[in-house]
Amino acid sequence: MATLCLASQVKGSIHKQPIPHRIGELKTSLSSTVKPFIQELEKLPMRIDVSKTIKSVTLRILDAFVDSVFQFVDQPVLPSQRNFVPVEEIGHIAQIEGIVGEIPADFPEGVYIRNGANPLWGGLKSTISVFGKSSHVWVEGEGMLHALYFSKDTNGNWSFAYNNRFVEPKTFKMEKQRNKPSYLPAVEGDSPAILAAFVLNALRFGDVNKILSNTSVFEHGGKYYSIAENYLAQEIDISSLSTLDDWDLGGAWGRPFTTHPKKAPGSGELVIMGVDAVKPYYVVGVISADGKKLIHKADVKLKRSTLAHEIGITQNQPPIDLCLLNVIELCLSHPRYLGYLVSPICDVFAFKGHFGNPIKMEHHKFAKNNFCTGSAYVSKPGGSEEDDGWIVAYVHDEDTDTSHVIVVDAKNFQGEPIAKIPLPQRVPYGHHGAYFQTPSQH
Ligand SMILES: [Fe+2]
Repeated sequence: MATLCLASQVKGSIHKQPIPHRIGELKTSLSSTVKPFIQELEKLPMRIDVSKTIKSVTLRILDAFVDSVFQFVDQPVLPSQRNFVPVEEIGHIAQIEGIVGEIPADFPEGVYIRNGANPLWGGLKSTISVFGKSSHVWVEGEGMLHALYFSKDTNGNWSFAYNNRFVEPKTFKMEKQRNKPSYLPAVEGDSPAILAAFVLNALRFGDVNKILSNTSVFEHGGKYYSIAENYLAQEIDISSLSTLDDWDLGGAWGRPFTTHPKKAPGSGELVIMGVDAVKPYYVVGVISADGKKLIHKADVKLKRSTLAHEIGITQNQPPIDLCLLNVIELCLSHPRYLGYLVSPICDVFAFKGHFGNPIKMEHHKFAKNNFCTGSAYVSKPGGSEEDDGWIVAYVHDEDTDTSHVIVVDAKNFQGEPIAKIPLPQRVPYGHHGAYFQTPSQH
């Protein structure tokens, strides 16, 4: 809904200028942009690295061209979109007081992290130029992690702390260093503006879009990662939320990485996939349980690119009636995966039909004008029954414009939360969350 609202607002505000007028503006801009650099070139000493210099000067010309032709403007925000507005980094780990309710003694210590889009530069931007207008869409904001730490002392007393921090892939660092919006929006708007953004982003930065790591978080091999669909996972230090590095598996993967990798039952290996707009469109991979090695990689050989956001793995169910049987065949071609069902597609109904047993469905009703994102399941250490655990969720109260985390007993999901933990600042609506138990609890 929010995406649609933003889209209609942006499209409705476009002002189209006559083409001859635009060409005149473009000529003037190009002339005033290029002249100073030609003068600078004439002053260069004779003994120089020619290719390096040409590249550097070209980049500066392109930057100057973008600066003179494109104007970045704030995208409007409707009152109903107030909690999509980004927040600042809090800058420290804040201790939390005032919890309502009680955390049970058998609740595992750990950290509840949620990822989400939190646009740098105070909000999403559009650009206006002689080419028209183009805009970012809300899923394009930079990734920000929100973390709530659950700790218990030797007497069993609980304490809680909160932190938030941007995920910092290489394009984030580059843009911060430039200290201004740099990538031109290339997703929505007038076709000439989008085409110009494609070309100029590619020429200046080597890629059309920013690397965003704003969708999910996961653990593998004792390490923690932030991820979106368009690039490699970013390793995160969960105690500080700082970004460590790309997880490139020694260069063995080298392509986009799914937001929702899954651990294979039994082996603990990680099954991944990567969708790209160019061939190979869809590749499936398996990473060793210790996270050090890519042990299997297969091109599914799809004939066109289609985004597959989810993947499901099960050890025992037979592969019946799946749209992409070739995915299964390729995965089963590796002897370790005999018996695993891999479904990168379609509509989560497929799962219901395949697994035979009806899926249990319950609802938890929030207080009026309260909405949640990034809920996660916390399994009870040593638990053996279904629903032996809790559901945690980041909740925002639209009336008070404050946020909190709730803990709900999974066995009494429709009942009141057993605990409500206030947060020191608003948490914008975002994407997926996960609860990572501290190693001593595994
Ligand atoms: Fe998702």
